[in-house]
Amino acid sequence: MRLTALLLTAVTVYACDKEYHFRHHDRHLQRRDTSPVFPPLLSQNEQILVNSFQNKSISEWSYYYTHKRNVAGESNAVPKWTAERWAEQGFRTRLDSYHVYLNYPVHRSLELRYGNGSGYHPTLEEQVLDVDETTGDPDRVPAFHGYSFSGNASAEYVYVGRGQRDDFKRIQALGVRLKGKIAFAKYGGPFRGLKVKNAQEYGMIGAVIFTDPGDDKNMTAKNYLTYPDGPARNPTGIQKGSVQFLSTYPGDPTTPGYPSKEGSPRMDKKTVPQIPSLPISWIEAQPLLMALNDHGVDAKTVDRPNWVGAIDGVKYSTGPSPATLTLSNIMEDKIDRIHNAMGIINGTNEDEVVIVGNHHDAWMIGGAADPHSGSAILIELAKAFGTLLKTGWKPKRTIVLASWDAEEYGLVGSTEWVEEYVPWLRDSAVAYLNIDVGVAGSIPDFSATPDLHALTTSIARKVIWPNGKDRTVYDIWEEKAGEIGALGAQSDYTAFVHHAGIAAIDMGTTRAPNDPIYHTHSNFDSFHWMTKFADPGFVMHKAIGQYLTLMLYHLVDDESLPLEPRNYGTEMDAWLKELQQVVSSANATAVLEFKALEDAVATFEAAAQNFNTLREIAVSSNNSTLLKGLNHKTRDFGRGFVSQGGLPGREFYQHLIFAPGIDTGYAPVTFPGITEAVAAGNLTLAREFVSRTAKAVLAAADILNT
Ligand SMILES: *[C@@H]1O[C@H](CO)[C@@H](O)[C@H](O)[C@H]1NC(C)=O
Ligand SMILES: *[C@@H]1O[C@H](CO)[C@@H](O)[C@H](O)[C@H]1NC(C)=O
Ligand SMILES: *[C@@H]1O[C@H](CO)[C@@H](O)[C@H](O)[C@H]1NC(C)=O
Ligand SMILES: *[C@@H]1O[C@H](CO)[C@@H](O)[C@H](O)[C@H]1NC(C)=O
Ligand SMILES: *[C@@H]1O[C@H](CO)[C@@H](O)[C@H](O)[C@H]1NC(C)=O
Ligand SMILES: *[C@@H]1O[C@H](CO)[C@@H](O)[C@H](O)[C@H]1NC(C)=O
Ligand SMILES: *[C@@H]1O[C@H](CO)[C@@H](O)[C@H](O)[C@H]1NC(C)=O
Ligand SMILES: *[C@@H]1O[C@H](CO)[C@@H](O)[C@H](O)[C@H]1NC(C)=O
Ligand SMILES: *[C@@H]1O[C@H](CO)[C@@H](O)[C@H](O)[C@H]1NC(C)=O
Ligand SMILES: [Zn+2]
Repeated sequence: MRLTALLLTAVTVYACDKEYHFRHHDRHLQRRDTSPVFPPLLSQNEQILVNSFQNKSISEWSYYYTHKRNVAGESNAVPKWTAERWAEQGFRTRLDSYHVYLNYPVHRSLELRYGNGSGYHPTLEEQVLDVDETTGDPDRVPAFHGYSFSGNASAEYVYVGRGQRDDFKRIQALGVRLKGKIAFAKYGGPFRGLKVKNAQEYGMIGAVIFTDPGDDKNMTAKNYLTYPDGPARNPTGIQKGSVQFLSTYPGDPTTPGYPSKEGSPRMDKKTVPQIPSLPISWIEAQPLLMALNDHGVDAKTVDRPNWVGAIDGVKYSTGPSPATLTLSNIMEDKIDRIHNAMGIINGTNEDEVVIVGNHHDAWMIGGAADPHSGSAILIELAKAFGTLLKTGWKPKRTIVLASWDAEEYGLVGSTEWVEEYVPWLRDSAVAYLNIDVGVAGSIPDFSATPDLHALTTSIARKVIWPNGKDRTVYDIWEEKAGEIGALGAQSDYTAFVHHAGIAAIDMGTTRAPNDPIYHTHSNFDSFHWMTKFADPGFVMHKAIGQYLTLMLYHLVDDESLPLEPRNYGTEMDAWLKELQQVVSSANATAVLEFKALEDAVATFEAAAQNFNTLREIAVSSNNSTLLKGLNHKTRDFGRGFVSQGGLPGREFYQHLIFAPGIDTGYAPVTFPGITEAVAAGNLTLAREFVSRTAKAVLAAADILNT
């Protein structure tokens, strides 16, 4: 128990629903300087870029995106429009299309029959609000799970907490019968698809996933008015979303490892559920949970983290009770065309490419935070570079803008694209910058590969945060977050980092405890919510957009590539210590030898040190030949981490320093091959991965050296 608790404390982050995480790892930060400069001193080009940002146009882009239905596979109107806006700014644009498996809801229903014969029939609908026009659009997207199994299930049901493996293990050990029952799980913790996967593996025949206001902490109906009257959660809000087995494989489940083109061979779907599932609001889950009160095992006996939520009248007993749930989730399978919008500005160095992306598909008419805060920012970014290009400036490195399709089903557009272009990307990609939920709260939030940490903080010092208090993005971030997370599988950076070994960052904002509730993947993530509650005036949109723009500018313009290989050493050192704790709580310290990995990390650190010395010489002597070679090493060394094959049972994931956790999905695990083998009690496998991880680290060191 303790071991898994340790593995999972670090990882309560949700995708697109990024939660503020309170880990403070200051040792991970490489600060460039500590004296605050306000206002930030900007070069002429930086000023042109920053001044080009206007909240008025951002608001117009946001309005367009949030008033169109754009579920993956239904239309190419949005990517086409996006490409047109980019083309107006001088980008060469095209649509990169794939033929992928998707599915759509045909019939959904849920019905409870109590032991006494009376019944309850949830509507599975979110409230239509007069003040929020898109919530009542006749064409609005119903609440369903993407890639869910088409079928019916009728049985007693059991409350399974957040649906982690350990939740199921615990209640089964307490004698709760799971086989043949329907799982009733709450959102939060592991990616929703893994809740369904776990239920399926425990022999359950269906799953219902509800939102619990307990996760809203103080921002609840007890203390505040609910949306649209106030910032608390609307009780009818439903979180849609994919139930793909994301930690096994992202992308089209029928074409694992290769691009989905017309006529591509298709495999059986191994990474989607074989039992039906539905999402539900807390207000409609309430009677279902109340019917379990005092049946099965009580919450106190279960004693699992986050087990008890905050729905009135609910005791969070496991059940089952003498009541039958009938779930129907009839889906239609299709092979549909999806379209990534691409925009390119050639750099003078053709073999150095920086990619910036966001997705454009959304689960609702709306999506003002997810994904369109990012979509609006990308157009404004294109406009800023368009302005700079008109001054005669040319980037040294090629800029590729991407607006991915079908991210919501499982990072499909970006994964298929990486699978198609991976040989070229391995040779030329310098970095991938991701923005998805650009604005959903008031705390700037960054996750990145270690080599981008120094740039992440130095750019943060260049952008003014819009709270009128003479503070930069850095100041707010340092005070309220102070940590750059590792990358899991929350968004489209996944294939770039974990499959291709490319440096990447994911950026945006996250909620502070008293910020308005962000209704993840609900119709209430709307233009109205954004303008009334989350970011009136689009001022945070502007700041985050300026941030992304300046980061891109430095990556494509600096003579010396602003990546810091050395920070990988610092981070790996810290993660090794965490790994040793994990091993020690598994009582495996005596039998698992780490020396090979420790030596490899030391070798890497020496290589990075030498590399920095050489780079300083190249910069101070203005030796551009030398610098070009060094820039290529900075670009390439990360490929070493993906050079030793993939993780067990999930070969797509090849990065041996971090990966999405097998039972968390969104959130990362470090030294995943070793950590997860230890957690599974397979020390043979753990030893094999100590060796493979050490080889990967040495391969990265070698690239820096040669
Ligand atoms: C049947 O049981 C449910 C749940 O206990 C209760 O709410 C309902 O009033 C009962 N109906 C009748 C007709 O007794
Ligand atoms: C939450 O609300 C309770 C009661 O209103 C208060 O005691 C507590 O300080 C609040 N916590 C935070 C983090 O605001
Ligand atoms: C599934 O249930 C729905 C609603 O109860 C019903 O209309 C449909 O015929 C059922 N389908 C199958 C395959 O049993
Ligand atoms: C940009 O570079 C590509 C690849 O080298 C080349 O095919 C294309 O013609 C160039 N486009 C422009 C506008 O220079
Ligand atoms: C832009 O910001 C200004 C002040 O910061 C505000 O007055 C204005 O309403 C905003 N415009 C839009 C379209 O949100
Ligand atoms: C490790 O050993 C301690 C002391 O013998 C024991 O209490 C604990 O349960 C063991 N942990 C595991 C994961 O086996
Ligand atoms: C560095 O060298 C380049 C040519 O390789 C030249 O254009 C530039 O002015 C030099 N910079 C300095 C600071 O000497
Ligand atoms: C630049 O560095 C390279 C490689 O170290 C060296 O061969 C070359 O002589 C240097 N050029 C100058 C002008 O110092
Ligand atoms: C441990 O992993 C190895 C692969 O290295 C595998 O062959 C073996 O079956 C695993 N053992 C257990 C108990 O799962
Ligand atoms: Zn998103």
